[in-house]
Amino acid sequence: MDLEKIFPLLDEIKNEKIKNKVKKCYEIAMKRGKWDTMDEIPFTLSFPNAYSYSKHVNNVTSMAFAIGKLRNDVNMDILIAGALLHDVGKLMEYEKKDGKVVKSSIGKYIRHPAIGSALAMEVGLDNKIVNVIMAHSKEGELVERCNEAIIVHHCDFIDFEIARGRK
Ligand SMILES: [Fe+2]
Repeated sequence: MDLEKIFPLLDEIKNEKIKNKVKKCYEIAMKRGKWDTMDEIPFTLSFPNAYSYSKHVNNVTSMAFAIGKLRNDVNMDILIAGALLHDVGKLMEYEKKDGKVVKSSIGKYIRHPAIGSALAMEVGLDNKIVNVIMAHSKEGELVERCNEAIIVHHCDFIDFEIARGRK
């Protein structure tokens, strides 16, 4: 799996340690979710025929990247790593069963923001990156979102709501 090819903005992460930990998260999640390729994963099960997981993650990361570049109160490495990983928990929240992608047994009890946060903590990523992942969805209403998390949260909903409207 060539992650740089799937997620071109990975290359914009300046800190090599962060970049490698992002890759490690994907390695672990792909293995635990028993996926051979990322192409077969839809980005959501909330509506039928959603486009791919990687397209959604690239859409969100590109939007977040563009916004981050316009500001001087954003750490770009945290923003990019957080955006690339915001939905990584979906690789374990979903599973392939009889050729169909469905909620996994873990996914019935733990949502992807929590699964993704646990992965990020496991590989030793910064708490702010964990905040971006944990708080990108409604879970974030219970904590303070860092600037990078605010951006990813909104970019995620832009992509989700536009995609849902087109279903
Ligand atoms: Fe998302």
